[in-house]
Amino acid sequence: MNSRSSVLLVLDGAQTGSIKAQLDQVTDDLLESLPPAGSFCASARRGLIARYSAVLEGNFIYWMTGAYLAARSEEAQAIIMDNLLEEVRDSHPLMLRKFTMAAHAQPSAADALAVHAHLSSVRLFIGRLAAPPILAMMAFFESFIQRFMPYLEELAQRQGSAEIEYTQVHGVCDVAHSEGLFRALEAELALAPHSPEPTDSLFEGVHLLRALIESIFQGPSSAFA
Ligand SMILES: [Fe+2]
Repeated sequence: MNSRSSVLLVLDGAQTGSIKAQLDQVTDDLLESLPPAGSFCASARRGLIARYSAVLEGNFIYWMTGAYLAARSEEAQAIIMDNLLEEVRDSHPLMLRKFTMAAHAQPSAADALAVHAHLSSVRLFIGRLAAPPILAMMAFFESFIQRFMPYLEELAQRQGSAEIEYTQVHGVCDVAHSEGLFRALEAELALAPHSPEPTDSLFEGVHLLRALIESIFQGPSSAFA
Protein backbone atom coordinates (compact mmCIF):
# COMPACT_ATOMS: atom_id res chain seq x y z
CA MET A 1 0.00 0.00 0.00
CA ASN A 2 1.36 3.44 -0.72
CA SER A 3 0.68 6.80 0.80
CA ARG A 4 -1.09 8.16 -2.28
CA SER A 5 -3.98 5.72 -2.06
CA SER A 6 -4.23 6.19 1.71
CA VAL A 7 -4.62 9.91 1.24
CA LEU A 8 -7.19 9.48 -1.49
CA LEU A 9 -9.32 7.26 0.68
CA VAL A 10 -9.80 9.94 3.32
CA LEU A 11 -11.68 12.67 1.68
CA ASP A 12 -14.69 14.57 0.70
CA GLY A 13 -18.16 14.02 -0.56
CA ALA A 14 -20.21 11.08 -1.56
CA GLN A 15 -20.80 11.84 -5.24
CA THR A 16 -20.32 8.66 -7.19
CA GLY A 17 -18.17 10.40 -9.82
CA SER A 18 -15.70 11.33 -7.14
CA ILE A 19 -16.00 7.89 -5.57
CA LYS A 20 -15.33 6.20 -8.90
CA ALA A 21 -12.22 8.30 -9.48
CA GLN A 22 -10.91 7.38 -6.04
CA LEU A 23 -11.59 3.69 -6.56
CA ASP A 24 -9.91 3.80 -9.98
CA GLN A 25 -6.86 5.22 -8.23
CA VAL A 26 -6.83 2.30 -5.77
CA THR A 27 -6.85 -0.10 -8.73
CA ASP A 28 -4.08 1.93 -10.42
CA ASP A 29 -1.96 1.66 -7.27
CA LEU A 30 -2.56 -2.07 -6.93
CA LEU A 31 -1.69 -2.80 -10.55
CA GLU A 32 1.37 -0.55 -10.43
CA SER A 33 2.62 -2.52 -7.42
CA LEU A 34 2.86 -5.70 -9.51
CA PRO A 35 6.16 -6.73 -11.07
CA PRO A 36 6.14 -7.54 -14.81
CA ALA A 37 4.42 -10.89 -15.36
CA GLY A 38 7.54 -12.15 -17.10
CA SER A 39 9.68 -11.62 -14.01
CA PHE A 40 7.96 -14.31 -11.90
CA CYS A 41 9.49 -17.71 -11.28
CA ALA A 42 7.11 -20.63 -11.88
CA SER A 43 6.41 -21.06 -8.17
CA ALA A 44 5.47 -17.41 -7.66
CA ARG A 45 3.29 -17.49 -10.77
CA ARG A 46 1.44 -20.56 -9.57
CA GLY A 47 1.02 -19.04 -6.10
CA LEU A 48 -0.56 -15.81 -7.29
CA ILE A 49 -3.06 -17.64 -9.50
CA ALA A 50 -3.82 -20.08 -6.68
CA ARG A 51 -4.45 -17.36 -4.10
CA TYR A 52 -6.63 -15.41 -6.56
CA SER A 53 -8.64 -18.58 -7.12
CA ALA A 54 -8.82 -19.34 -3.37
CA VAL A 55 -10.43 -15.95 -2.81
CA LEU A 56 -12.64 -15.59 -5.88
CA GLU A 57 -14.05 -19.04 -6.55
CA GLY A 58 -15.96 -19.46 -3.34
CA ASN A 59 -16.58 -15.89 -2.31
CA PHE A 60 -17.59 -13.67 -5.20
CA ILE A 61 -21.18 -14.89 -5.43
CA TYR A 62 -21.40 -15.02 -1.62
CA TRP A 63 -20.38 -11.37 -1.34
CA MET A 64 -22.69 -10.31 -4.17
CA THR A 65 -25.48 -12.14 -2.34
CA GLY A 66 -24.59 -10.08 0.73
CA ALA A 67 -25.00 -6.95 -1.38
CA TYR A 68 -28.42 -8.17 -2.48
CA LEU A 69 -29.53 -8.93 1.07
CA ALA A 70 -28.33 -5.50 2.22
CA ALA A 71 -29.83 -3.41 -0.60
CA ARG A 72 -33.07 -1.58 0.11
CA SER A 73 -33.79 0.14 -3.21
CA GLU A 74 -35.55 -1.73 -6.00
CA GLU A 75 -33.07 -0.36 -8.53
CA ALA A 76 -30.06 -1.68 -6.63
CA GLN A 77 -31.73 -5.03 -6.03
CA ALA A 78 -32.51 -5.41 -9.75
CA ILE A 79 -28.94 -4.56 -10.78
CA ILE A 80 -27.42 -6.98 -8.27
CA MET A 81 -29.89 -9.71 -9.25
CA ASP A 82 -28.86 -9.42 -12.90
CA ASN A 83 -25.26 -9.81 -11.85
CA LEU A 84 -26.03 -12.84 -9.70
CA LEU A 85 -28.08 -14.46 -12.45
CA GLU A 86 -25.17 -14.23 -14.84
CA GLU A 87 -22.70 -15.58 -12.28
CA VAL A 88 -24.90 -18.58 -11.47
CA ARG A 89 -26.39 -19.31 -14.90
CA ASP A 90 -23.01 -19.27 -16.63
CA SER A 91 -21.23 -20.86 -13.63
CA HIS A 92 -18.41 -18.41 -13.28
CA PRO A 93 -16.91 -20.47 -10.41
CA LEU A 94 -16.54 -23.40 -12.83
CA MET A 95 -14.94 -21.09 -15.39
CA LEU A 96 -12.42 -20.01 -12.76
CA ARG A 97 -11.80 -23.61 -11.66
CA LYS A 98 -11.03 -24.61 -15.26
CA PHE A 99 -8.71 -21.65 -15.62
CA THR A 100 -6.89 -22.53 -12.40
CA MET A 101 -6.56 -26.22 -13.23
CA ALA A 102 -5.23 -25.50 -16.73
CA ALA A 103 -2.56 -23.29 -15.15
CA HIS A 104 -1.61 -26.07 -12.70
CA ALA A 105 -2.42 -23.69 -9.87
CA GLN A 106 -5.04 -25.33 -7.68
CA PRO A 107 -4.92 -23.75 -4.22
CA SER A 108 -3.08 -25.61 -1.48
CA ALA A 109 -3.55 -25.30 2.29
CA ALA A 110 -0.66 -22.83 2.30
CA ASP A 111 -2.39 -20.72 -0.33
CA ALA A 112 -5.59 -20.67 1.73
CA LEU A 113 -3.65 -19.71 4.85
CA ALA A 114 -1.88 -16.89 3.05
CA VAL A 115 -5.18 -15.08 2.46
CA HIS A 116 -7.05 -16.31 5.53
CA ALA A 117 -6.71 -13.27 7.81
CA HIS A 118 -7.72 -10.63 5.28
CA LEU A 119 -10.38 -12.88 3.75
CA SER A 120 -11.95 -13.30 7.19
CA SER A 121 -12.06 -9.52 7.67
CA VAL A 122 -13.94 -9.08 4.40
CA ARG A 123 -16.39 -11.87 5.31
CA LEU A 124 -17.19 -10.26 8.65
CA PHE A 125 -17.62 -6.87 6.97
CA ILE A 126 -20.08 -8.37 4.46
CA GLY A 127 -21.98 -9.96 7.33
CA ARG A 128 -22.88 -6.55 8.74
CA LEU A 129 -25.03 -6.03 5.60
CA ALA A 130 -24.47 -2.30 5.22
CA ALA A 131 -25.48 -1.63 1.61
CA PRO A 132 -23.49 1.47 0.55
CA PRO A 133 -20.07 0.25 1.75
CA ILE A 134 -20.68 -3.22 0.32
CA LEU A 135 -21.70 -1.76 -3.05
CA ALA A 136 -18.65 0.53 -3.06
CA MET A 137 -16.50 -2.54 -2.40
CA MET A 138 -18.14 -4.66 -5.10
CA ALA A 139 -18.04 -1.84 -7.68
CA PHE A 140 -14.34 -1.50 -6.95
CA PHE A 141 -13.91 -5.29 -7.12
CA GLU A 142 -15.58 -5.61 -10.53
CA SER A 143 -13.50 -2.77 -11.92
CA PHE A 144 -10.29 -4.19 -10.46
CA ILE A 145 -11.03 -7.67 -11.81
CA GLN A 146 -11.65 -6.33 -15.31
CA ARG A 147 -8.36 -4.44 -15.37
CA PHE A 148 -6.42 -7.31 -13.76
CA MET A 149 -7.47 -9.92 -16.35
CA PRO A 150 -4.73 -9.35 -18.96
CA TYR A 151 -2.07 -9.80 -16.27
CA LEU A 152 -3.72 -12.90 -14.82
CA GLU A 153 -4.08 -14.35 -18.32
CA GLU A 154 -0.41 -13.75 -19.07
CA LEU A 155 0.61 -15.53 -15.86
CA ALA A 156 -1.54 -18.52 -16.83
CA GLN A 157 -0.14 -18.61 -20.35
CA ARG A 158 3.37 -18.63 -18.90
CA GLN A 159 2.21 -21.66 -16.90
CA GLY A 160 1.50 -23.36 -20.22
CA SER A 161 -2.25 -22.79 -20.17
CA ALA A 162 -4.40 -22.02 -23.22
CA GLU A 163 -7.63 -21.72 -21.15
CA ILE A 164 -8.79 -18.11 -21.43
CA GLU A 165 -12.58 -18.23 -21.08
CA TYR A 166 -12.54 -16.85 -17.51
CA THR A 167 -10.19 -13.98 -18.27
CA GLN A 168 -11.89 -13.10 -21.56
CA VAL A 169 -15.40 -13.10 -20.07
CA HIS A 170 -14.33 -11.00 -17.09
CA GLY A 171 -12.30 -8.58 -19.12
CA VAL A 172 -15.48 -7.56 -20.91
CA CYS A 173 -18.61 -8.15 -18.85
CA ASP A 174 -17.23 -6.62 -15.69
CA VAL A 175 -17.12 -3.19 -17.31
CA ALA A 176 -20.92 -3.21 -17.46
CA HIS A 177 -21.16 -4.86 -14.04
CA SER A 178 -19.02 -2.22 -12.42
CA GLU A 179 -21.02 0.62 -13.98
CA GLY A 180 -24.23 -1.06 -12.84
CA LEU A 181 -22.94 -1.34 -9.29
CA PHE A 182 -22.11 2.37 -9.23
CA ARG A 183 -25.73 3.05 -10.21
CA ALA A 184 -26.83 0.69 -7.44
CA LEU A 185 -24.62 2.58 -4.99
CA GLU A 186 -26.17 5.87 -6.15
CA ALA A 187 -29.65 4.44 -5.56
CA GLU A 188 -28.76 3.31 -2.04
CA LEU A 189 -27.12 6.62 -1.15
CA ALA A 190 -30.20 8.46 -2.44
CA LEU A 191 -32.30 6.74 0.21
CA ALA A 192 -30.57 8.80 2.88
CA PRO A 193 -29.79 12.11 1.14
CA HIS A 194 -29.48 14.10 4.36
CA SER A 195 -27.10 11.72 6.07
CA PRO A 196 -24.45 10.81 3.53
CA GLU A 197 -22.04 8.10 4.49
CA PRO A 198 -18.73 9.50 5.73
CA THR A 199 -16.19 8.55 3.08
CA ASP A 200 -14.02 6.57 5.47
CA SER A 201 -17.07 4.48 6.42
CA LEU A 202 -18.20 4.18 2.80
CA PHE A 203 -14.77 2.88 1.86
CA GLU A 204 -14.36 0.46 4.76
CA GLY A 205 -14.88 -2.56 2.53
CA VAL A 206 -12.60 -1.12 -0.14
CA HIS A 207 -9.81 -0.82 2.45
CA LEU A 208 -10.38 -4.40 3.56
CA LEU A 209 -10.56 -5.77 0.02
CA ARG A 210 -7.44 -3.86 -1.00
CA ALA A 211 -5.56 -5.51 1.88
CA LEU A 212 -6.89 -8.89 0.75
CA ILE A 213 -5.78 -8.29 -2.84
CA GLU A 214 -2.35 -7.29 -1.53
CA SER A 215 -2.16 -10.63 0.27
CA ILE A 216 -3.06 -12.36 -3.02
CA PHE A 217 -0.20 -10.49 -4.69
CA GLN A 218 2.36 -10.94 -1.93
CA GLY A 219 1.68 -14.47 -0.73
CA PRO A 220 2.64 -16.18 2.51
CA SER A 221 5.04 -13.42 3.63
CA SER A 222 2.06 -11.15 4.21
CA ALA A 223 -0.19 -13.79 5.76
CA PHE A 224 0.45 -12.86 9.36
CA ALA A 225 1.38 -9.22 8.95
FE1 LIG B 1 -17.91 -13.57 -12.66
